[in-house]
Amino acid sequence: MDRTLVIAKPDAVERGLAGEIIARLERRGLRLVAAELRSIDAETAGRHYAEHQGKPFYASLVEFITRSPALLMVVEGPGDTWKVVRTMMGATNPKEAAPGTIRGDLAIEMTENLVHGSDGPESAEREIGIFFPALAG
Ligand code: RTP
Ligand code: MG
Repeated sequence: MDRTLVIAKPDAVERGLAGEIIARLERRGLRLVAAELRSIDAETAGRHYAEHQGKPFYASLVEFITRSPALLMVVEGPGDTWKVVRTMMGATNPKEAAPGTIRGDLAIEMTENLVHGSDGPESAEREIGIFFPALAG
């Protein structure tokens, strides 16, 4: 089985949409391997979003992802799980996300786009290692 990291971001938990996001993933056929509601600290956010350090939106991104608890999840499927999740999430900018996707159905602002999913197999491995080190490798 093939695993990826998914985060129901603080806005999703605040809006009571964590269950909706889990339900969509499960209905698709993905299985929860791990799930924990946890406040992401600034240091961990910096590791997770290292690729965005130095960009104009970086400070607000870290402020957002650390502002209240997020639901961290590892999900698994038969293959290319990261891609399945990314397709279900929709475009980064919810204004451009297709109907039927999580962002396209439930979000409208770029800064509050509800979910994170790893963007490739290496990212999945790296991010599972950051948030669930016991599951890495
Ligand atoms: P994520 O990492 O959060 O799952 O989102 P993503 O892969 O779809 O998008 P990414 O390019 O990794 O960007 C991470 C988050 O930063 C915010 N962002 N703002 N103002 C901007 O141009 C901009 N670009 C990205 C978004 O909230 C995005 O989810
Ligand atoms: Mg990303």
